[in-house]
Amino acid sequence: MSNFQPGIFAPIPPFARCLSFQLAPDGEPLSVLGALVEQKFGDHLVVGIGHPLALALESEIPGLRGFTALCGPGLSIPSTQTALWCWLRGTDRGELVHAGRALEAKLESGFEVEQVIDTFVYAQGRDLTGYEDGTENPTGDDALAAGILTEACPGLAGSSFVAVQQWVHDFEVFEDIPLAERDELIGRRQSDNEELADAPPSAHVKRTAQEDFAPPAFLVRRSMPWADEDGEGLLFVAFGRSLDAYDAILRRMTGAEDGVVDGLFQFTRPITGGFYWCPPVIGGKLDLRALGA
Ligand code: HEM
Repeated sequence: MSNFQPGIFAPIPPFARCLSFQLAPDGEPLSVLGALVEQKFGDHLVVGIGHPLALALESEIPGLRGFTALCGPGLSIPSTQTALWCWLRGTDRGELVHAGRALEAKLESGFEVEQVIDTFVYAQGRDLTGYEDGTENPTGDDALAAGILTEACPGLAGSSFVAVQQWVHDFEVFEDIPLAERDELIGRRQSDNEELADAPPSAHVKRTAQEDFAPPAFLVRRSMPWADEDGEGLLFVAFGRSLDAYDAILRRMTGAEDGVVDGLFQFTRPITGGFYWCPPVIGGKLDLRALGA
């Protein structure tokens, strides 16, 4: 099975530019998407289709739904579901700016830009808090099994789903927390990335331990830091063969099951949330048959 979008499993690039789009009033999304089908598909771009777009095209993508807003004690997780998500990946920030402009121009008769966010690698793959991110990601065949839908009909086999959330860190709060307590919020030591044997149940790695779900909730995380005039934090990006693993983990983080809220919420909160279906590729091009293209 190699008909998935190659950017999903390619290593996290030094820079990325994420563009989300809403449908333009009176737009022609299907013919515009047709232009993307013509594009030779490499690992420089990952494309995700949101539920509003599938609904507009009267297409049923099994497993695709809109992101649902959630509440927990003192916290709220918003849904900012858009119609289309494009993840441009590269090594040169300027080239990504131009690639983003070209993409916007190509899509303009069907879509309006909702958000553009630039992300980057910090300290060989750490979140801006200094903690290594991605350690427990599945690799090789396990990543494939976690991230790609295989037993499905043509047009769906090779698909993935992605959850995208922009988190904003409050560094004034975070920097006042002593290092030992920060380690307990995450459940790993910042200094050497070792998991704490006695981490509290609220520790992020305890809340999210993938094997502790039934069925196990493995995700292929590809998050990257962001920073701009509005603040700084993590753009959380996680691929899965369905959206269920992500949903289960996020619910547990909010304390919905046992009232224990993830320690992360002490210094960071999400301000966006969207779910997208990442179509397969066929002959090096996006396979949009499931959308009726
Ligand atoms: C600001 C937001 C977040 C930050 C800074 C963050 C950071 C981290 C860090 C440092 C780790 C430990 C190392 C690793 O295995 O990667 C981790 C693990 C993990 N995180 Fe997050 N995370 C965030 C949000 C989320 C969200 C929203 C989810 C899913 C809903 C999630 C799911 C996971 C999973 C599945 C693991 C691995 C758990 C395991 O099996 O050991 N994270 N995260």
